[in-house]
This record gives sequence, structure tokens and C-alpha cells, in this order.
Amino acid sequence: MKKNTMTLTNNMTGDSYEYKILEGTRGSCVVDIRTFFADSGMFTYDPGFTATAACESTVTFIDGGKGELRYRGIAIEELANNHTYLETCFLLLNSRLPSEEELYKFDLEIRHRAFLHEGLRHLFNAFPDNAHPMATLSAAVTALSTFYNDHLDMTHEEEFLEMAHRIISKMPTIAAFAYRHSLGIPFIQPDIDLGFTKNFLTMMRAYPGGKMHLCANGHEDIKDVEVRALDTIFTLHADHEQNASTTVVRGVASTGAHPYVAISSGISALWGRAHGGANESVIAQLEYIGSVENVEAFIKRAKDPDDDFRLMGFGHRVYKNFDPRAKILKNLQDELREELNLDTELMAIARKIEEIALSDDYFISRNLYPNIDFYTGIILTALQIPKSMFTPIFVIGRTVGWITQWIEFKKDKTSKIARPRQLYIGE
Ligand code: ACO
Repeated sequence: MKKNTMTLTNNMTGDSYEYKILEGTRGSCVVDIRTFFADSGMFTYDPGFTATAACESTVTFIDGGKGELRYRGIAIEELANNHTYLETCFLLLNSRLPSEEELYKFDLEIRHRAFLHEGLRHLFNAFPDNAHPMATLSAAVTALSTFYNDHLDMTHEEEFLEMAHRIISKMPTIAAFAYRHSLGIPFIQPDIDLGFTKNFLTMMRAYPGGKMHLCANGHEDIKDVEVRALDTIFTLHADHEQNASTTVVRGVASTGAHPYVAISSGISALWGRAHGGANESVIAQLEYIGSVENVEAFIKRAKDPDDDFRLMGFGHRVYKNFDPRAKILKNLQDELREELNLDTELMAIARKIEEIALSDDYFISRNLYPNIDFYTGIILTALQIPKSMFTPIFVIGRTVGWITQWIEFKKDKTSKIARPRQLYIGE
């Protein structure tokens, strides 16, 4: 019989150590090296944590080789095609989809909590008009912790859920206020008669005091197809296991800091263009490329090892076959083409890049496929959402994932403060 262990031999000393192999529920395995330092006096070395699992989790499963993503066991395709973002939030927090009655109550609760304390509203005035909404968002979420300071020692399920519902509900309001502040236009308060996603679009677009909306094409109402597209984007962003920003959230959680400060740290981590900031960079790059004729030259630059230039929206640390979220969005983009006027020069450049990259040996041999950010950038542009709001939209979707992972961390009796070691090579 095969033994579920791995033996590591130090060839310098001849000492051998045996470690258990722990099996996950979907075929993944990890080597349990928790006693490695005590056994050998050495640390493992793994910059970027490319071969390190830092926790057990029941929230999200990814098989990067197969291009598979599941929240609480349910395939992302099923959630994106047949359920709303709010149902997905309920699923992540409660480990099951809601009944009709539960969804009604959950939706009502989220609508009720969407307003911001007046004191928090005034905070926005402190920031310059040209502040990036991600910076304002992170600061405002840190400030939120000053209004809910009684939640540091949660022990009851209701306390965890109340704290989670509050942040999920207020995030679109904070994001919309950050945006309107950046334009210097009056805030639009949340409307309790509107569902989660339409409410956010309204707070972004509505003209103060009236029903008409501010759109590049003039005054129009929000279309159902726009609400559906954005809701799908929120669902696809809801969680993604131990990505960089979630790792930051868990790291801050491990020190015992306030949950909203942990979320604020996650927002800061997400801002970077190697992570959530890529969706903004995709469009900035397409604009920079400027025309279909220039695409070949930029592809050449992306392949040049002496050039830092990278194609934004391509490649992923985990997906080495395809990003299943990107596949769903590509289909959605095709559906939206007619209704949302997607046939622009920007789209033509995007299509050309996609076409070349998918058939070029450089990209194929390195498993560089379009990721979720490639398509969200394009779809959000079609929804007339400005580039600076792309990553805040990612934040709105991901908030439920961060808070779910925060709760899981807090409930895990084996969790410890995050404190990696180093290989000292200095004087
Ligand atoms: N364009 C051109 N070449 C690339 C790209 C790219 N977008 N991404 C990776 N490569 C190349 C690297 O130069 C490297 O080539 P080499 O082996 O010849 O040196 C090889 O592919 C491997 O790249 P790594 O950086 O080692 O891959 P890693 O897994 O560490 O990085 C990452 C993944 C950060 C996503 C990377 O692919 C990238 O920078 N992509 C562009 C930014 C982006 O789209 N980020 C969004 C990620 S999805 C998300 O966060 C929601």
C-alpha cells in the first residue's frame, strides 16, 4: 500500500524527514511541512508563494489546468448564467443558495444598509478632485471602521453576517461617491426601491434631482442588458481563493485588526496593475496602441525579453489553459455587441490582439490567454463606465469574497499570525 507521506533528504547531512500528504476534496494534495523548521532548522524558500498553500478553505475551488472555478462547489458557469450576484453573495456567506424567501430578506437587508453615515460622507470633501477612486475607496473603507468599532470580538454567526452585509451593501455607495467626487458633481443617495446593481449604476449616472441619467450619448435610462452585464461581472469577481488581495486581507486578519481595515488593505493590493488594476490598464493600453495597424509592433514588443512591455489582460498565475471567467465574458461580449455598440476602433484593436496572441507561439508556449480583465475592460467601456472605475467595480464584486475569507480565517482554530521568514544575504 502506498504511504501518504513525502520524505525529504538533506544531502549535506544525510538526515531524512517524513511529512504527511494531505488530500483535498477535489483531488488536490499538499505536503504538511508545519514541523519542518523544528525538524531541520531550515525554512522553505518560495518567493511569490508559487508552491505554498497558506490555509485550508471551503470557499472557492480552482483547477488552473482544467480552467475550472467553483464557489462552494457550484460551477461559475452555473452561477453566472442562472443566478444573480446577490444569490452568489448569499451562497458564499452561507455555503448554500438561498430559498426565494431567504433571497427576499437578504435583498431587503442589503438595500436597507446601503446609505452612509453623514460623517463619512463629509470625508470625501477632504480629497482632491483628481484623486483616483481606488485611493478614495480604500481611505473611506478604513474610515468605516471608525463608525463600527464594536465588532472586533465577534463570536456569534449573526455578528459575522451583520458585519459582512454592511460592507457588501455600502461598498457600491462608497465607490459611486468616490467617482462623483472625482468629477466634482453632487452625490446621489442609494434608492431603496432599486436592486443592488441597478442602484449602483443609478448612483453613478443619475442627474441630481431628476430621473434622467448622465451618459456619453445623452440622457437615457439604464438598460436591463447593462444591469445584467454588470451583475455578471460582479458574480465573476466575487471570489478567487488565495489571490494577492485576499492573501493581504487574511494577513491583516491574522494580526487581529478590524475587518474593514483588512478589506481596505485588500483594496490597496487590488489596485496594482499586475492584479485588479489590469482592467484599467487594458483599455489604457488599447488607447495607447491607437489603431489596428499598430498591433503587430506592440505584439513584437511584448515578446521582446529586453522590453518591459507586457500585454495587459493576458496571462494568469493559476490558469494555464484558459480563464473560465474570461470565456463567460467573451460570450457575453458577443451577445452585447448589437445592443451596446461594441463595434468601435478599440474593439477592433482588442480583437486583433486576441487573434494574434491566440495563434502566436510565444503566447501559446507560455500559456498566455486573455484573462478576465481583458474582457471586463471592454464590456465596462461599452457600459460607458470610465476607466478609473473599472477596479472599484472589481472591488464591489470581490468584497463578499474578502469578507467570507476573513470570517473563515477567524473561525479557524488553527489560524496563526502571518509571519514568513527570509534568506538573509546582507552584511
Ligand atoms: N505579456 C507578455 N509576456 C508575458 C505576459 C504578458 N501579459 N505575462 C507573462 N509573460 C511572460 C513573461 O515575460 C515570462 O516569460 P519568460 O518565461 O520568457 O521570462 C512568462 O510569460 C511567465 O511570466 P511570469 O511573470 O513569470 O508569470 P506569473 O504567473 O508570475 O504572472 C501575471 C502572472 C502577473 C498575471 C502576468 O501574466 C502579467 O503580468 N499579466 C499582465 C497583467 C494582467 O493582465 N494581470 C491580471 C491578472 S488576473 C487578475 O488579477 C484578476
